[in-house]
Amino acid sequence: MAKPLILAIDTSCDETAAAITQGQMILSNVVASQAQLHQKYGGVFPTVAKQAHQANIEPTVEEALKRAGKTWKDIDAVAVTRGPGLAPALEIGIEYAQQLAKQHNKPLIPVNHIEGHVLSVLSQPQPRAGKFEAIKPQLPALAIIVSGGHTEFDLVKEIGSYEKLGATVDDAAGECLDKVGRLLGLGYPAGPIVEKLAKQGDHDRFKFPLPMTDVKTFDMSFSGLKTHSKRLIKDLETNNQLDKQTITDFCAALQEGVFTHLIYKLEKLLAEISIKELWLGGGVAANVTLRTKLRKIAKTNNLTFRFPYTNKLTGDNAAMIGVVAGYKLEKNPDFQAENLDRLPRWSIAS
Ligand code: KG4
Ligand code: ZN
Repeated sequence: MAKPLILAIDTSCDETAAAITQGQMILSNVVASQAQLHQKYGGVFPTVAKQAHQANIEPTVEEALKRAGKTWKDIDAVAVTRGPGLAPALEIGIEYAQQLAKQHNKPLIPVNHIEGHVLSVLSQPQPRAGKFEAIKPQLPALAIIVSGGHTEFDLVKEIGSYEKLGATVDDAAGECLDKVGRLLGLGYPAGPIVEKLAKQGDHDRFKFPLPMTDVKTFDMSFSGLKTHSKRLIKDLETNNQLDKQTITDFCAALQEGVFTHLIYKLEKLLAEISIKELWLGGGVAANVTLRTKLRKIAKTNNLTFRFPYTNKLTGDNAAMIGVVAGYKLEKNPDFQAENLDRLPRWSIAS
């Protein structure tokens, strides 16, 4: 039997996203980015995000249906991100999804945004020809989610059953790159620009501290790297040394500092647990240097390494929300949520 066709919505942060999915298959994945709107604030401004979601949600959903070549007659269920995320932003997606589900008489499926990033590695494009072959992961797996809002290690015991083994206690890794990038005048979000510059820079020119080595947990902390950067940049500015090459070298050193910390904790964790696969998701998963480092670690540990097949699935998107909803419907075909409240701090493990 064909898997249900899902219309999914995500408005957890600064992207208004809608997608059509069927199991692991992505039929369309539309993202209306607000990055330009938030550029002048150097970060996401919640009330601005809410207004933009309000303006973009309807055309984004229409576009997702159009690109998939589907109409409401074809859709079996509506899925929406319930949390974690910015409360005013989540509210717009939830209200609109509820309204659509009611109007078209479809079940409504609430999804955890982090679970979306975790299962984004199982997404696949529609095959041009031939039969669709689903990915059948070997579990347990360890999912590393690295984004602008989250940095965590999640054990995937089964699809739908997770344990958070470690997480940042303050800033997320992407947030650290964005905030330091702003100090360097790189624009928002700075993560991709830091990566580009880092390729040409000398990471040995600046030394970054390795945080939390005296703490036995697998938690991380990126705010110290930010404070350290602030101090260094101020000194460079005072001495009139913040030239182009210095910024380039700084990006290389910062990126190295952030990834070294993440990998230090990851390797400690891998020594303690027994898993079969290593997964990488979230906006920072677009970073090729990070992928290369993790691929190597996966190989050494005899683990299958997975990350999303396109960068449209690393950053926030609704296709990953649809994939989660597909699994939920498969487990419980009568799933139906009532009165959805947003859950801005919803953990994947609860
Ligand atoms: O998953 P995402 O779109 O939003 C959140 O849920 O936070 O992640 C956005 C984050 C931003 O911090 C952005 O700078 C970072 O991902 N990012 C990158 C790269 N592309 C996006 N960081 C490093 N290298 C990249 N290529
Ligand atoms: Zn995200």
